[in-house]
Amino acid sequence: MTEQPIDPQNTKKVFIKTYGCQMNVYDSERMADVLAPLGYAESDAPDDADLVILNTCHIREKAAEKVYSELGRIRQLKTAREAESGDKMTVAVAGCVAQAEGAEIMRRAPVVDIVFGPGAYHKLPEMIARAERGNADPTQRQGRGVLNTEFPIEDKFDALPINRESATGLTAFLTVQEGCDKFCTFCVVPYTRGAEFSRPAQSVLDEAKALVARGVKEITLLGQNVNAYHGEGADGKDWSLGRLIHALAAIDGVERLRYTTSHPRDMDDDLINAHRDVDALMPYLHLPVQSGSNRILDAMNRKHTRDEYFALIDRIRDARPDIALSGDFIVGFPGENDRDFEDTMDLVRRVGYGSAFSFKYSPRPGTPGAALEWQVEEHKKDERLQALQALLREQQIGFNKSMIGKTLPVLLEREGRHQGQMVGRSPYLQAVHLDADHALLGQTIHVTVTDATQNSLTGKAVLK
Ligand code: SAH
Ligand code: SF4
Ligand code: F3S
Repeated sequence: MTEQPIDPQNTKKVFIKTYGCQMNVYDSERMADVLAPLGYAESDAPDDADLVILNTCHIREKAAEKVYSELGRIRQLKTAREAESGDKMTVAVAGCVAQAEGAEIMRRAPVVDIVFGPGAYHKLPEMIARAERGNADPTQRQGRGVLNTEFPIEDKFDALPINRESATGLTAFLTVQEGCDKFCTFCVVPYTRGAEFSRPAQSVLDEAKALVARGVKEITLLGQNVNAYHGEGADGKDWSLGRLIHALAAIDGVERLRYTTSHPRDMDDDLINAHRDVDALMPYLHLPVQSGSNRILDAMNRKHTRDEYFALIDRIRDARPDIALSGDFIVGFPGENDRDFEDTMDLVRRVGYGSAFSFKYSPRPGTPGAALEWQVEEHKKDERLQALQALLREQQIGFNKSMIGKTLPVLLEREGRHQGQMVGRSPYLQAVHLDADHALLGQTIHVTVTDATQNSLTGKAVLK
């Protein structure tokens, strides 16, 4: 674990604010990796930053609007900083809002110097240099900043540094697949992230080794449709995600593996069998279904029925009976009536989730769903969301309470808030609080669960 010596005279500060999904968290870390060799150290506040990057999310209207209010605050900071010290601040907008409405951002928020999409962040050094030239000499700025919303995702992975300086914890994300060809009618992702692309297996394995070398013990593989992974394998053939998981589990030091987000249509036998055969693969699966109504599933272009989903869950539970299921749900998709919603409630009751996320449908510009008739009234969406969330909450509490009395392997990830307390994760992704020696940080120990709430478990270390 050697740190690169950076001349303190040349140290600059970058503040990166991340919105949205885990892939944006990963991307932000990779931006930090790209910037480190230029002398940028990460700062946890924008006030004294030389470079501010907002890594944005476009998935729902609320997420996208946050960017503009944050840019208002950044503008004030930038003005104050320049007035006080004469120091410039470069402002960049990255991620999915940047991809979807780049030119619009430039128009609405002149404070922004650089806009770049998820396929372009390996070009940050070049974009910063151009923006700084423009800031120093406004005649070079050509009225707008630097805009880069190209999609060379494969170039990006080839160009990223192989060491993972940004990985500082015991757990890390690793993107193996990006983009989506599914075109669910509510979703912006195929437009903001582009077509499906799988990284070659060797490049994923190399990155996993770099993570382990930095002390990482648990890796979560990421993709918009991670189980659609079909990267080129060492043998020249396409590898499935199941195959990749076998190879990752064989790396010395990889103790735990997870993956997210999966599509029900892409759960193949390789992957289901990996849940049976690979010890490092944790018994937790985020498998969004969105709705329990066949009519709505069809209108959403999910390309499967509720019965196919039930049959799939049965196969997964046959392979790994204790698996904890998680999902995403949308209420109020156009045309959803009370009976459709009842089908969703029924599906949730039949499957039983350990945890889940649920959202009110948000019409997104450019998606087919936004143009549909029969948009559901806001108060109906509210009502349905409340009912669904009450049911999901009940299931989550029930699932957590079912752990009481059991002994689970817990990876101790960090110190707790109280003296002598540690916090770790169960195989089912539950946070576990316990009293333990801080010297045990990073170890997996056995913990008997004594209590449970909706959000976490409490337990006692089992002494051997
Ligand atoms: N690739 C994943 C989902 C990525 S988006 C999948 O196929 O399941 C994460 C979640 O946001 C989705 O599962 C969906 O539940 C929700 N979501 C996406 N678009 C939405 C919209 N327009 N309105 C409300 N929720 C949405
Ligand atoms: Fe969006 Fe559907 Fe693709 Fe998931 S599978 S990212 S919900 S289009
Ligand atoms: Fe949001 Fe883009 Fe992720 S829209 S959910 S940040 S892929």
